[in-house]
Formats: sequence, C-alpha cells, structure tokens
Amino acid sequence: HVDTSALWTAETKADPFPVYSMMRKEAPVCRVVTPEGFEIWMITRYEDVRQALTDPRLANATEHAPEWLRSLGLVGEGDASLGRHLLTVDPPEHTRLRRLVSKAFTRGRMEALRPRVQRITDELLDAMAAGEEADLIESFAFPLPITVICELLGVPGEDQDDFRGWSRTILTAAFTPEGMAERAGAGRSMARYVAGLIARRRPEVDPAVPPGEQPDLISGLILASEDRDTLSESELKAMIRLLLIAGHETTVNLIGNGMVSLFRHPDQLRLLRERPELLPGAIEELLRYDGPVDRGMFRYTTEDVEIGGQRIPKGSAVVGLLGSADRDPARYADADVLDITREDTGHLAFGHGAHFCLGAPLARVEGQVAIGSLLARFPDISLACDPSELRWHSGGFGVVRGVEALPVRLRAGT
Ligand code: HEM
Repeated sequence: HVDTSALWTAETKADPFPVYSMMRKEAPVCRVVTPEGFEIWMITRYEDVRQALTDPRLANATEHAPEWLRSLGLVGEGDASLGRHLLTVDPPEHTRLRRLVSKAFTRGRMEALRPRVQRITDELLDAMAAGEEADLIESFAFPLPITVICELLGVPGEDQDDFRGWSRTILTAAFTPEGMAERAGAGRSMARYVAGLIARRRPEVDPAVPPGEQPDLISGLILASEDRDTLSESELKAMIRLLLIAGHETTVNLIGNGMVSLFRHPDQLRLLRERPELLPGAIEELLRYDGPVDRGMFRYTTEDVEIGGQRIPKGSAVVGLLGSADRDPARYADADVLDITREDTGHLAFGHGAHFCLGAPLARVEGQVAIGSLLARFPDISLACDPSELRWHSGGFGVVRGVEALPVRLRAGT
C-alpha cells in the first residue's frame, strides 16, 4: 500500500512529478481514493498507459462508468455533460463517427488555418504591446484558441464573446451544486446557440463542394456522409460542443505550460530564440515535459482486467496519467530534463490509439505560431514573478493542468 494523499495537495498541483515518480516505482497501477471518496485506478508507467489506451476491455462509453461518476451528472445526458460524442463511444460507433467527422475536419483544413492563426496571434500581440506587463493567459493564451475555433466553426465575430463566456463557465465553474447549475446553464445556452447556427447553415450548404472544402467546419460536418450515412442532428450538436471544449483549455495550457517551462529553463529559451527552426521539435518536447492533459480521460473496465501485474475489477474507472507516462525514465533518457533538441517523438500528450486527438494538427499549428511569434515579438520577455508564486489549477474536469495567470514583463529593464 502506498500513500497517494499527496496527489490532491496544492504542492502536487504545482509539481506533480515527484508523486508520479513515486507511484511509477512503488505502485504503477494503483487504486486511489479521491478526497470526495471516489475510487479511481491510476496507471503511471509509459508502456502500461500506452497499452491501456488500445485495450478493448477498457471502454469509453459511460454506460460502463461506476455509479459515483454517473451521479455527478458529468456523464450521460444531463445539461452539464456533452452527451454522446467521440470521447464517450467505443468502436464500432466510434469508428463510424470518427470517419464521418474526419471528412470535414481534415488535416488540410487545419493546416490551411495557419495564416488565420497568425493573424489572430498578431492582433493579440499588438494589443499586448501597448503595455509593459501582461497576464499571458488572459491576454493571449485564453483568447487565441477560442477565436480560432470560432473561426473554424464559422461563429460570427459578434457572437464570439458569448461563446467565450460559456466556454469559460463550462471549463472553470466549481464542482459544487451551484457550480454545476451554472455549468448546466452555460451548456444549455451553448446548445441552443449551436442548434440555431446549424439551422441557419443547413439551407445554405452547397452540396457540390466536398465537406473538407466547405467554407466552415459546420457546413462540412452537415455534408459529411458515407454510404448515405450522415451525422444526426444530436451528433452534430455534441460534436461541435466537444470541439469547443476539447480544443480550448488544452491549447490555452499548451501555450501557458510551454512558456512556464521555457522561463524555468533560460538556456532552452535562449536556444529557441536563437534557432527558431527548432520550434516544431520544441513544441513536441514542451508537450512531453509538461503537457496540458496531465491525467487522461476515464476508461471503464468491461471485465476484470490485469495491467502491469495488477487486477482491476470490472466496472472501475481507470485513468492513464499521461503526464507521468511522458516522464517515465524507462521510456526516456533524462526524462526530467527539458531538451528542445530531443528527437524522440512518441509522447502521449495527445493520447494514443483510436481516440488520439483529432485536433492535434491544429494544436501544433497554434502552439508553433503562438510561441514562435511571442518570442519573435518580445525577445526579452520574462516572468514577472517568482515561479513558486504561480498558482496552478487542474481545471477541465481535473484532466487539464495549467496556471491561473502568467504575469510577464514584455521588455528588458522595465
Ligand atoms: C482527444 C489532447 C487540442 C479535439 C484528445 C485526447 C487527448 C487530447 C489526450 C485523447 C483523450 C483520450 O483518449 O482519453 C489535446 C491537447 C491539445 C488538444 C494536449 C492541445 C495542445 C485539441 C484541439 C481540438 C481537439 C485544438 C479541436 C479543435 C479533440 C477531439 C478529441 C480529442 C475531438 C476526441 C477524439 C476521439 O475520441 O476520437 N485530445 N488536444 N483537441 N481532441 Fe484534443
């Protein structure tokens, strides 16, 4: 038996890696009880996590979830949940949905967004440049991805503030009854809005244009079909809301955590500034070193399953700690060292297997453009507080880890 109570402390939120290291050594597949009394199984070693993510006995569908999770209202059909979408279904339903969605949400569409991501980034940096200091989360990392997703979906500019507000509430409201009510309210408003957007777009869609080339993603999703099968109205709505949630806070914290890691390693920051061609590899290393999705999404055992020599009973909630897997010394030499020239890819920050992040190409574009442009525009940017003063949260349903604010000085000597 190992003491995992440290998992829930403020110190661990700020730096979970010592606890993860202890767990990898002493209890790599471990039954953990949360402060609320909920039982979760945690997997911490790279190989075990990777295997678990392709094990068909570990399901995503929430009908296999334990009662405590269903009673929270976060899974199932309630307003606070997103309903049935890619992350809450298993093959063959998942295979069907993912194929349909991929017809509209193509790699080409994501890469083609690069100039728009650049434009939005430049506008945000222009606004920041008026001051000497800024909160990088508030002025840059938070607005960038939500604006990108709104443009991707085709949400008109005048409605984007509403979208930002709902998204923020869904992601950051507390897990108290009041917080859950607030979250459900924002979920309902967003659902209503998305339904209206689909209804307006439907009659305008030109069926002669392939889904991947439609002017916006919603039109593409409306048209996406295979053997006369298309997304139903409720699948469309759930998908659009999922894209918004899955693509927002994750990317906020790719930028946030990435910059924190660079500030803490001035040699690596300098290297990146001097050799911008290292940027794509640097983003991969920042994802490995302190990626946004610290603890993966739940899986549920559909039968008794043995992983890493440990038996997990049927009906358990299981989580692979992606943040721990990516620091596993059995997988990476000098796993705790940030090295932006590292050539080893294969990190698990975007997951693995059938549910591998659909938005990874877009997230990479956003990370590269955001961090590259920030360093180019403000070569002397520095942290305006001691790193120990940063407040870390694990928002996003406890899955995502990041800083609440990131105060920076934009120029030298100010
Ligand atoms: C799935 C991470 C950005 C859309 C996932 C998963 C991870 C992840 C770990 C798999 C979860 C699991 O298997 O349990 C990230 C990170 C991002 C990011 C670290 C940013 C740095 C995005 C963006 C979008 C997106 C920008 C879309 C606009 C999705 C979708 C899924 C997903 C739709 C579900 C795929 C499926 O179940 O088939 N993401 N994500 N993500 N992500 Fe991302």
